[in-house]
Amino acid sequence: MKILLIGASGTIGKRIYDRFAQKHEIVQASRTGSDVAVDITDAVSIQKMYEAVEKIDAVICATGPAKFGPFGELTEDDFYIGIRGKMMGQVDLVRIGQRYLNDDGSFTLTTGILADDPIVGSTAVSLVNGAVNSFAMAAAIELLRNQRINVVCPTIVADSAEAYADFFPGFDPAPMDRVVNGYVRSVETKITGRILRIY
Ligand SMILES: NC(=O)c1ccc[n+]([C@@H]2O[C@H](COP(=O)([O-])OP(=O)(O)OC[C@H]3O[C@@H](n4cnc5c(N)ncnc54)[C@H](OP(=O)(O)O)[C@@H]3O)[C@@H](O)[C@H]2O)c1
Repeated sequence: MKILLIGASGTIGKRIYDRFAQKHEIVQASRTGSDVAVDITDAVSIQKMYEAVEKIDAVICATGPAKFGPFGELTEDDFYIGIRGKMMGQVDLVRIGQRYLNDDGSFTLTTGILADDPIVGSTAVSLVNGAVNSFAMAAAIELLRNQRINVVCPTIVADSAEAYADFFPGFDPAPMDRVVNGYVRSVETKITGRILRIY
């Protein structure tokens, strides 16, 4: 399969790349992408990426900018970082990408446990995680040409556990292999409309 991986250089993206590159052709994308550049907060940039990468069998998004911060201090603009980034960025990858994705192709988006289990400072992140989960369930029933869509929704991942330990007290980090398996299930099986919770 030819797989377009957005956020390929990130903590989760690198692990996705390592696994999928064993079997598939991977096009690595991000703002400083090694194969193609994209800023998911900009629909024009997404359009250009799809025009540059032909015949895609699967799109995986492992990025999603959003703002953490105390609810009492978050501004409207702070909320819009996640709304434009993690939410509309991923929505636009599907909205625009459905015209470029091959028949039987799949989209796999990324949200996170904060959709279900908020922590202090997560209101703006929890909001968009929940929105993307709901979007994917709804888009799954309308995508044409046998295209599929799923979301991988991990808890704190092992490779980030040390850095985020103070923010996620008592959360069990998910081993990276389990996290990557969510993406493998989404891409390599026939499921659609699923939120794959890796908790
Ligand atoms: N880490 C965790 O424990 C964890 C747990 C649950 C959910 N998540 C979610 O998983 C996703 C990835 O997290 P991560 O920790 O792997 O992130 P990360 O290490 O910060 O990596 C982010 C990746 O996305 C790219 N990127 C950033 N902004 C972008 C933009 N506007 N357009 C295109 N690419 C962009 C970065 O590359 P460039 O700088 O080159 O753009 C990089 O490749 C996020 O949505 C996060 O909320 C993470």
